[in-house]
Amino acid sequence: MTAVDMSLEGKVALVTGAAGGIGSACVSALAHAGARVMATDLDGKACEAVAYSLHAHDLTVESMQQDVCDEVRWEQVIDATVNDLGGLDILVNNAGIYVGGTLEENSLEDVNRVHRVNVDSIFLGMKYGVLAMKPEGAAGQGGSIINLSSVAGLVGVPGHSAYGSTKGAVRLYTKHAAAEFGALGYGIRVNSVHPGLIETEMGAAVFQDLLDIGMVESIEEGREYILGLTALGRLGTAEDVAGMVLFLASDAASYITGSEFVVDGGLTAK
Ligand SMILES: NC(=O)c1ccc[n+]([C@@H]2O[C@H](COP(=O)([O-])OP(=O)(O)OC[C@H]3O[C@@H](n4cnc5c(N)ncnc54)[C@H](O)[C@@H]3O)[C@@H](O)[C@H]2O)c1
Repeated sequence: MTAVDMSLEGKVALVTGAAGGIGSACVSALAHAGARVMATDLDGKACEAVAYSLHAHDLTVESMQQDVCDEVRWEQVIDATVNDLGGLDILVNNAGIYVGGTLEENSLEDVNRVHRVNVDSIFLGMKYGVLAMKPEGAAGQGGSIINLSSVAGLVGVPGHSAYGSTKGAVRLYTKHAAAEFGALGYGIRVNSVHPGLIETEMGAAVFQDLLDIGMVESIEEGREYILGLTALGRLGTAEDVAGMVLFLASDAASYITGSEFVVDGGLTAK
């Protein structure tokens, strides 16, 4: 019998949206497991601070400013990752924004904005990721791509139609990419992660939205409402999500591709 291997020793990872709650937890989890990590975010300074805080633990984390909607920047970030850190084995497409409001209140501009950040980023990340990770690519070792979706990409949620439609697209983009990369023999796994309500800046925006659309009368009532729906009776932490990302990044998940992984404390269980 062999041991299950969750170590990322010798691997190189790229995490987008790395200054945010879930992104920074992913950078930390992957780096602590042994990966050399490139952390990127629209907010370059905040991302640099995440990298700096991990240097104190003797971990190899570099940072770059990146807008995930900018195609040229994707090429630069992938090149820098491969050249500076020596490869690319793990790509975590985590950057995203939340746009709430009811469908009838949403403007086309709102809808286009959230689709551009949450879906274009997945396309561009997977495109430039696969070009580097496939056998003849600059990194050339195959690997694991993890796309951040949401439970709102699986089930209907009031006030979430604009955002949830992007996350539904992320779920299926993941499955098509997994099928295609498998058929092409690239050795690249692609999976989606679907968090429930996680206590980050974005999680707080969801409570505000429940209030704005009149579903609850206070932020506190919004929290109680979500807690009441959650089997485990607590909201999620960024580390809860990072644990799943770490598993999918590792060789312990080597027979898993094209699948969706819910991390929601049972929010969608009943
Ligand atoms: N927090 C939740 O409850 C929750 C639930 C389900 C899914 N998610 C998903 O998890 C991911 C991370 O969410 P979070 O809660 O950590 O959010 P967050 O708001 O804490 O962090 C998001 C990060 O993405 C960055 N970002 C935004 N637009 C960008 C762009 N164009 N280019 C590069 N970076 C950009 C922000 O600067 C920020 O650092 C998102 O894809 C989100 O949709 C979050």
